[in-house]
Amino acid sequence: MRIAITADLHWGSREQGDASTRTLVHDLREEDPDVLILAGDIGSGRQETIHQCLDLFSDLPARRFFVAGNHDIWTTDGDSERIFRETLPEIGKEHGFHYLEGCPVTIEGVGIAGTMGWYDYSLRDESLGIDLVHYERKYLRRVASWNDRRFVRWRFSDRELTDLLVEELRGTLAALSVDAEEIVVVTHHLPFEELVIRYPGHRAWAFANAYLGSVRLGEVLLEFPRVRHHFCGHSHARSVVQKGAMRSVNVGSTYLNKRYELLEVGPDPI
Ligand SMILES: [Fe+2]
Ligand SMILES: [Fe+2]
Repeated sequence: MRIAITADLHWGSREQGDASTRTLVHDLREEDPDVLILAGDIGSGRQETIHQCLDLFSDLPARRFFVAGNHDIWTTDGDSERIFRETLPEIGKEHGFHYLEGCPVTIEGVGIAGTMGWYDYSLRDESLGIDLVHYERKYLRRVASWNDRRFVRWRFSDRELTDLLVEELRGTLAALSVDAEEIVVVTHHLPFEELVIRYPGHRAWAFANAYLGSVRLGEVLLEFPRVRHHFCGHSHARSVVQKGAMRSVNVGSTYLNKRYELLEVGPDPI
C-alpha cells in the first residue's frame, strides 16, 4: 500500500504557494497513491480556503484523510473547539476526506491515526531565559508574537489542550494496537526535539520554537512499538529522525514550495 503525506498547503495564503500545490496535486495523480493524508494547515485561516483546498483532490482515486493544523481552527468570532470537533469533520465529509482526529482506521492490517497535537512550550529554547509567562501570552515585546494568540479561541490553556490530545492519542493507539500490525501516525505539531531546526542568533525564531509541539506527543508515540512511521508538518522545515523502530519525518512544505512524502507499507501486493 502506497501512502502519500503532505502538509502545510495553506491554500489561499500565497499565489506561488497555491501554484506549487497545484503542481503537487498533478504529481500525486501520477504517483497514484492508495492513501493520501494531509497533516494540517490546509487553509489559510478562513474556512472557505479549507473547502477549496480539499476540493483540489476530488478526482484523486486515493482514500483521503486529514488532521487539523493550528491555522485550520483559527476564528475571529467563533469557537475553535467547535471547529475542531464538529466543523472540520463535516467539511472533510463534503469533500470525501475522513477526519482522523479520534477516528483511526485500519487498512490491510496497517493502522492510520492522527491528531493535530498542540504545544506546551516543552520544545522552547531554554537558553533564551525567557519567563514562561511570555510564552503563555504568545508575545514577547519587540521580538515576536505568535498569531494563535489572536485567532485560537478555546476554553483550555495550551498545556491543558496538549494534555487532552496526548491522552486521546494514547487511547487511540492502545485500541489500534490490538489489531493493526503496523501503525502510521500523522500529527500537525512536532513530537521530538530532534525535528526542531534551530536558527542560532535569531531570537524571534528561537521564541517561536515554544509553539512547535510537545515532547509528550513523542513519548506517547514511543509507548506503542507498532508505531513505525510518523509524519508531521507545522515548522515548514524538513527534518527526519529515527527513534528506535520508528522513523519520524517532518514533511517540510513551506509557504511557497509544497512537497510530499511517500511510504510503502503493509503486505506486498504481489
Ligand atoms: Fe503551517
Ligand atoms: Fe501550523
